[in-house]
Amino acid sequence: AARPVSMRLRRSASCAALRRCGARAHSTAAAAAPTAPPAAAAGPLTTDENLALRKRFLAPSQKMHYDGSEAGPLHLTRGRGAYLYDTDGAAHLDCVNNVAHVGHCHPRVVAAATRQLETLNTNSRYVHDNIARLAAALTATLPAPLDTVFFVNSGTEANDLAIRLARKRTGRQQMVCVDGAYHGHSVATLAVSPYSKYAEAEASGGTAVLSQPDVYRLGLSDEQATSAAAAQYAEVLRAGPAPAAFLVESVMCCGGQVQLPRGYLGRMYEQTRAGGGLAIADEVQTGFGRSGSSFWAFESHGVVPDIVTMGKPMGNGFPLAAVVTTGEVADAFRSSEYFNTFGGNTVACAVGLEVLAILEEERLQESACRVGAHTLSRLREVGDSRGAVGDVRGRGLLLGVELVRDRGTREPDPELAAFAMGRMRAERVLVSTDGPHRNVLKIKPPMCFSDEDADALASALDSALAAGERELPAGRTGVLPPRPALLSYL
Ligand SMILES: Cc1ncc(COP(=O)(O)O)c(C=O)c1O
Repeated sequence: AARPVSMRLRRSASCAALRRCGARAHSTAAAAAPTAPPAAAAGPLTTDENLALRKRFLAPSQKMHYDGSEAGPLHLTRGRGAYLYDTDGAAHLDCVNNVAHVGHCHPRVVAAATRQLETLNTNSRYVHDNIARLAAALTATLPAPLDTVFFVNSGTEANDLAIRLARKRTGRQQMVCVDGAYHGHSVATLAVSPYSKYAEAEASGGTAVLSQPDVYRLGLSDEQATSAAAAQYAEVLRAGPAPAAFLVESVMCCGGQVQLPRGYLGRMYEQTRAGGGLAIADEVQTGFGRSGSSFWAFESHGVVPDIVTMGKPMGNGFPLAAVVTTGEVADAFRSSEYFNTFGGNTVACAVGLEVLAILEEERLQESACRVGAHTLSRLREVGDSRGAVGDVRGRGLLLGVELVRDRGTREPDPELAAFAMGRMRAERVLVSTDGPHRNVLKIKPPMCFSDEDADALASALDSALAAGERELPAGRTGVLPPRPALLSYL
């Protein structure tokens, strides 16, 4: 029987594109169809077809997890809660996606977005309840005087705007950031993102980079690491130029899930402000209750930043991010207009409101605290029995497992980290690697992660590390990272 026209058209779209890139086409009848329908009508592709299209049409710098591994990149079709489903319908436990904060495709988020999309989607220049309500609800989660909101679309935009605000407010250009940090992909944010391999080449200058206060790598106590960092910062401030702002995450995520030492933020903010600069907290990954003990991770350090940036979990995957600051800092822009076409649109704000409501009603911050403690202890049990685990750290559902070749020298083991990530994928447990040496397994699951999920994660990690002990060459040697600069300030 003849297929409906829409189906033929769907087939023809993929086939035309596949022919252009030399991939196998599905059907010769469909290949003869003359015109391409809109991309949105394209039917499902096999993984090979999909990868061929991707290779042909996407810029190669847009990398995929598991690319180059034996199993190849993961081809997903849907998500629910803490699980992602592949084209065979197999469920994978997602231990790493901190964007799907309240769970993949949470039905209430989907309903809120759909309802608003069907009703009105427009920008912040019109009066609408959603934007006003979300601004009020957000500031209610923050300490005074952080009561003034700018809505944007991504963490990069949020940090970019924070940098602009600080520069405008202080009349200075210089920024201070911390080694290992990542704050975004625009020109200004790359310049404060030493994590990015490409930052150096693209940086626009005007940045002082402080050493990472990583107590594990430094082998220091919190107090020692904080005073060494303060001494280094004092020297940077003495040398000048005076900074517009000091920018750091409240837990350094891309930097290797590094917990800032006790007292660190207090000292750094104090020194920044004494010199007339502003303190910016990047909560793009760490906010919205993930750290368990507080809604914002900076709160557990007893400090209040001048500017807070947020993104990833805020829209549960829908593009939504924000800068929240004081009225005084926001006034730096009063004489000009700040407009962002999609920032604070009615649909994004509907989603943001729903995410906040779900967090509260499902008590997900409390859950992050409780399940996070269980996960940490299960991972520590693995660490106790596997010599390659140098450190297990974190709080709430923001955890890291640092793998080393030798516990004594703490030489990083990025090969084992990559191996473990691949092996765990074979057991359908998804984690990722991070840190300056790419030897830290990061664990940041959706906040609906359960104790049973944590047990599955620990068991998959244990068997992956056991396999690594058996299968990786025992005598592999790496390079010890250079002696951390902070030690010279002790
Ligand atoms: C701490 C931090 N800040 C900012 C960003 C940039 O956010 P986005 O990718 O939404 O632009 C990221 C992204 O990974 C991040 O981890």
